[in-house]
Amino acid sequence: MIALDLPSKQHDESRQGEALILEKKSKKDGNERKLYIESYGCAMNFSDSEIVASILSEDGFSTTSEYEEADVIFINTCSIRENAETRVRNRLKQFKAIKRQNKDLVIGVLGCMAERLKSKFLEEEKLVDVVVGPDAYRDLPNLIAQVNSGQKAINVLLSREETYADVSPVRLNSNGISAFISIMRGCDNMCSFCVVPFTRGRERSRDAYSIVKEAEDLRDAGYKEITLLGQNVDSYNWSPENSSAKINFANLLEMVAHVSPDMRVRFSTSHPKDITDEVLETIAKHENICKHIHLPVQSGNSRVLDLMNRTYTREWYLNRIDAIRRIIPTCSISTDIISGFCSETEEDHQETLSMMDLVKYEFAYMYSYSERPGTPAAKKLDDDIPEEGKQRRLREIIALQQEHSFYRAQKRVGKTEKVLIESLSKKSKSDFCGRSDHNHMVIFPVLEGYKPGDYVNVLIERTTTATLIGYIVS
Ligand code: SAH
Ligand code: SF4
Ligand code: F3S
Repeated sequence: MIALDLPSKQHDESRQGEALILEKKSKKDGNERKLYIESYGCAMNFSDSEIVASILSEDGFSTTSEYEEADVIFINTCSIRENAETRVRNRLKQFKAIKRQNKDLVIGVLGCMAERLKSKFLEEEKLVDVVVGPDAYRDLPNLIAQVNSGQKAINVLLSREETYADVSPVRLNSNGISAFISIMRGCDNMCSFCVVPFTRGRERSRDAYSIVKEAEDLRDAGYKEITLLGQNVDSYNWSPENSSAKINFANLLEMVAHVSPDMRVRFSTSHPKDITDEVLETIAKHENICKHIHLPVQSGNSRVLDLMNRTYTREWYLNRIDAIRRIIPTCSISTDIISGFCSETEEDHQETLSMMDLVKYEFAYMYSYSERPGTPAAKKLDDDIPEEGKQRRLREIIALQQEHSFYRAQKRVGKTEKVLIESLSKKSKSDFCGRSDHNHMVIFPVLEGYKPGDYVNVLIERTTTATLIGYIVS
């Protein structure tokens, strides 16, 4: 998954549950209907909300950032951990009051929670009118019409083909500089802890030419950075119709890198079992493919990894790290870690810490295990680590990661980083912020003649735990 928040947020439960409220404002005029959509969870969900907005714009909807003026309120939901679902339920309660005032208001639940709970949502959450799974968004205009005629509506069919390849997203989450492009949907991996294969269905890759076209459109609109999204981008695999040619992720990366030397390419998420030397060589070869790989490890112990059904061992993972260091020596590496998975012993936990010591990740997203109903782990394994134990291990992981993030950040002091200016810093209007090639957040004083969307070279003077601070040298 892609990090939507700053990498400086080392323990970020919110990454998978942060609401993003639309920035696009629009005035209510005539009979135009208004859509308010709030997204939770991973970048995939945020990207899907842009597809939803596009499908509904064809049906006469424009988006609004004020839910009070909306005709339709959608929450695009996440099921990854229990607390992600709790947040959504709490948010729905807040919408109850508005629904009381406006009986015609349509409230819908989209995304992974809709897919997981299906019609249960209509039974449990009385104020919800429509429930739509991630592969059924083309049906939204019909479903809304059904609700307008007085019924409840639901479509949670998963598809083996749907990639929304022809839908041109309405860029809701964007600053006009960087954008997401979904390159595939679903996941076939069946990691035992994970709900995604159940909420997003089978893995399918999107037409490579439609991806390149979307990248070209973004280039022409002045965008400077694209992030290719998939649950496991390394298993991207697409063939043109009536052709035996196969386009793998390395080929796709290369095609997209050629769209413009001035447009950066990022991608997420890589899977240790599938990331090939060919992919690494492609990253090394192209200046505009960012030298950062998010490679979730989950655990440093081979027995736990086996129980998680990650299909790699500690040794295999370390071999992939060696390959990254050999082929892309400057590459930064980040990860995801789960503490307290079923049967994890104190020694197993120590192996996770020692894995962290060996790799010294630039940053990490760290979670305690949350059993998800219906997953293989929930069916077959005992969630036997007491909450207190999970949390203590998590605290140790977070503390160690903070040391490593600081260590990695310090290594950049005295170096010049190529930064894409994103905006003024939230803390000070006299500073810019942007990301380095290696995905560090960088803060530096505004300099006349430079603006968001420009690349600058920033000399790093000092750091916080994970943020680099410096000044523009050219
Ligand atoms: N497809 C990506 C990310 C999936 S979800 C991948 O394979 O890496 C993002 C992260 O959430 C996972 O990497 C994992 O660390 C965490 N996660 C998933 N299910 C979880 C669960 N049941 N409890 C705690 N963390 C979980
Ligand atoms: Fe979940 Fe594993 Fe698929 Fe990632 S690769 S989405 S963790 S099943
Ligand atoms: Fe959450 Fe679904 Fe993404 S469960 S993490 S929104 S794929």
